[in-house]
Amino acid sequence: MSTTVGDRKSPRKTLRRLVEFRGINGGTVQQYRNRIRNMYDGPAGAVLVFGSLMSLHEPLVGRMFRRRKFDVSGCRSILDVGSGAGQILGHLLKGTEPETRLVAFDLSHGMLRRARTRLGSSRPSYVTGDLTQLPFADNSFDCITCGWVIEHLPDPRPGLAELSRVLQPGGRMLLLATEDTLPGMVVSRTWKCRTYNRRELRAVCDEVGLPWRSQLWFTPIHRFFKMGGILVEAQKPRDA
Ligand SMILES: C[S@@+](CC[C@H](N)C(=O)[O-])C[C@H]1O[C@@H](n2cnc3c(N)ncnc32)[C@H](O)[C@@H]1O
Repeated sequence: MSTTVGDRKSPRKTLRRLVEFRGINGGTVQQYRNRIRNMYDGPAGAVLVFGSLMSLHEPLVGRMFRRRKFDVSGCRSILDVGSGAGQILGHLLKGTEPETRLVAFDLSHGMLRRARTRLGSSRPSYVTGDLTQLPFADNSFDCITCGWVIEHLPDPRPGLAELSRVLQPGGRMLLLATEDTLPGMVVSRTWKCRTYNRRELRAVCDEVGLPWRSQLWFTPIHRFFKMGGILVEAQKPRDA
């Protein structure tokens, strides 16, 4: 394609084209689901458990909950979407009352099995399925956590619209997503997923009725260097 002066490619876009995994588009919904299940049911899913610890993601998320940057203490019903090996679920177990209903949801049966074994708790219910078709009634939860999942969706709209549907008016969501930064692009190649532009993701969240209430950072260092990805608290409007 020829490039005119008006649409000259920025170095950032060129870098993104080179480094970001681009195989996410195309294929049927069933092929998408099979690809995710094959990846996470298998050795990659086992490696992820250690990766989350080594990259400090799991402890850093725990720190956020402990410091109440995202407060789950008063929640009554929480859906953890894309629970994986329970990296977020473990913190929810510690940070909520025993009566709080916890639902762990994931496309990969193998990952939910790892979560159950790792956490050793019978408190959460474990549900397998695709977040673009959630098997829950409208307004079922007052809180949702969704950590590093939507980067697997070629288009985030159907998934985020589903999350909005099952969230009660006034309910809050913690959304963590890989950003289109250089470290994010390395993640994209490693986990065969996409990255998000912060502004574009915010616009999609607005569109589906999940406006951002605050943008979060793991630590002041992450904030200063704009590292750690997109971490946001979104809230469904009370009058929705
Ligand atoms: C990178 S792991 C994240 C695990 C955990 N939430 C964390 O914070 O570390 C992504 C998880 O999302 C799940 N996943 C991907 N696409 C999904 C979908 N459409 N519906 C439900 N789960 C999905 C994968 O099976 C995997 O367990």
